[in-house]
Amino acid sequence: MKIDSLFRPLTLPNGAVLPNRLCKAAMEENLSIEGQLPGQKLFTLYQRWAEGGVGLQISGNVMIAPDAMTGPGGVVLQDDSHLDLFKTWAKAGRAGGAHFWMQINHPGRQVYAAMGEQAVGPSDIAVNIPGFDKLLAKPRALQSSEVETLIQRFAHTAQLAERAGFSGVQIHAAHGYLISQFLSPLVNNRTDRWGGSLENRARFLLDTLKAVKAAVSPSFCLSVKLNSADFQKGGFQLDDAKWVAIELEKIGLDLLEMSGGNYESPAMTGTTDHTKASKREAYFIKFAREIASVVSIPIMVTGGILSPEVARGALTEDEQGFGVKVLGLGRGLAFNPDLPNLWKAGQSSSVNLPEINWSSKTLASLGLMSVSKTQLKRLASGKPPKLKLSPALATLSDQLKNRLQTRRYRKWREA
Ligand SMILES: Cc1cc2nc3c(=O)[nH]c(=O)nc-3n(C[C@H](O)[C@H](O)[C@H](O)COP(=O)(O)O)c2cc1C
Repeated sequence: MKIDSLFRPLTLPNGAVLPNRLCKAAMEENLSIEGQLPGQKLFTLYQRWAEGGVGLQISGNVMIAPDAMTGPGGVVLQDDSHLDLFKTWAKAGRAGGAHFWMQINHPGRQVYAAMGEQAVGPSDIAVNIPGFDKLLAKPRALQSSEVETLIQRFAHTAQLAERAGFSGVQIHAAHGYLISQFLSPLVNNRTDRWGGSLENRARFLLDTLKAVKAAVSPSFCLSVKLNSADFQKGGFQLDDAKWVAIELEKIGLDLLEMSGGNYESPAMTGTTDHTKASKREAYFIKFAREIASVVSIPIMVTGGILSPEVARGALTEDEQGFGVKVLGLGRGLAFNPDLPNLWKAGQSSSVNLPEINWSSKTLASLGLMSVSKTQLKRLASGKPPKLKLSPALATLSDQLKNRLQTRRYRKWREA
């Protein structure tokens, strides 16, 4: 009998084996408990996805430092004072034999002003979203010694993730967060060893991977999420991504996930013009294949995979074994956590995301995030996903929740 390509195990460069090719991509859950820690809701949510049959789960981004959060309901892992909670989380996500990797991140300048913290970035260039200029904090440029400290913090968080029982980490170098800011010539105008040439702009990412690798054991899986492009004139481009991928391969990487965009250009959820032409299905596949043609690291592509036909069509492998070998699903699994098991059973179940035709791309992107977060909240409470959701109501309720969580976060920081 022919084995379905989606359910063939994959041996990664470090020898670890993914049981199948379907990965729950990172989605910030906004479900931390007091102290920005994982609690019962996150345990229930990840156990639910594990039961749905994914081969790999990647957590929503976990922060390496408490003063730099992508959102007020995020998780921070900076020391081992609550490692037991992370152990329970790791166990829940690995139920049924799935791999569970922690995504580790620093937001850099993409921090909400309401959080009350000083944002930092490679340079003091603020995020520019017309009409929303007060939403995000104004950054100051990091000193070179601070960059070194942050690299060590990434490594320390990775080491803690391993101690907690996660089977790998993913360094978030996409979507306009700190590492992606260093990569972008539009955001990084430094003249020291961290800026200027692509080699210098990539130093933060490459040194972080080296530091993480030195801090964990060889069987612990290492991944990077990278933009195939920022989709901004003068920004990080596909050719840059190819060069970076080759350098990552030299250091050693088990999986490279390709995505795109940032807060100014939200291509990651298919809300920019380049995605319309491809009908919002596997919209980074062309870019992911280009990257797969230059490195032997297994490539994962994420974005717009909602049906088994699109998923199967996205997998590739050439004679040398290079290819797009893993598929990341975010919103698909928020709307139906059972997709892997259903597809394995031969069903053609697919997900129809709500259409959001708001004229503001920023608001539309926010709406898309909010409907998914509503589903995560339901799954985390043991409820089934809701088939019909009002994007406007979901966005409003998400904003309200954010406000309460921001208050809680600020109190925690002041204590
Ligand atoms: C609610 C939500 C939260 C997200 N949080 C993260 C995150 O923490 N880290 C990350 O790399 N990507 C994050 N993403 C982007 C997804 O990983 C993915 O790249 C994007 O949703 C496109 O894939 P999809 O079409 O399968 O949803 C998030 C997406 C959504 C919808």
